[in-house]
Amino acid sequence: MNRRKVLSWLTLSWLSGMLSVVIGACTKKSSTPGTTVPKTGTTKNGFVEVGNIQDLDATGRVLHTIEGDNKVLVIRDAENTDTLYALNPTCTHQGCPVDFEQDKQNIFCACHGSTYKIDGSVIKGPASSPLKTYEVKVDGDAILVNPKAI
Ligand code: FES
Repeated sequence: MNRRKVLSWLTLSWLSGMLSVVIGACTKKSSTPGTTVPKTGTTKNGFVEVGNIQDLDATGRVLHTIEGDNKVLVIRDAENTDTLYALNPTCTHQGCPVDFEQDKQNIFCACHGSTYKIDGSVIKGPASSPLKTYEVKVDGDAILVNPKAI
């Protein structure tokens, strides 16, 4: 093998490696720092598995994408720990993403300051409508959500 062939193979090898990196970067899903986006999605009787209890208890919330770009935010009620809430984390004012504030036990929209209770009802506007909610249940350690908003 001459020097030109070796250089061609090295160049081809480098290009294929770079292509893998570019494809990998383009296919990664984004997530909010500090949230959990489990790789689940198993369906059970119309419900979608969005995470597990261990993730919820470790981070205080589970954030998962269901059906297209719709996301679900699952929160445990700190005062009634048997109760989970599953909400669409999209502000009803102008559509910004909302975030769970674990220390305040509320949901906040940084765009214009709307604040929601953990059940999705409005505490403070400008939003006037509650967050969409989903039916949620626990099966063993799995958190299951019905992707049809209530
Ligand atoms: S978009 Fe959330 S308060 Fe305006």
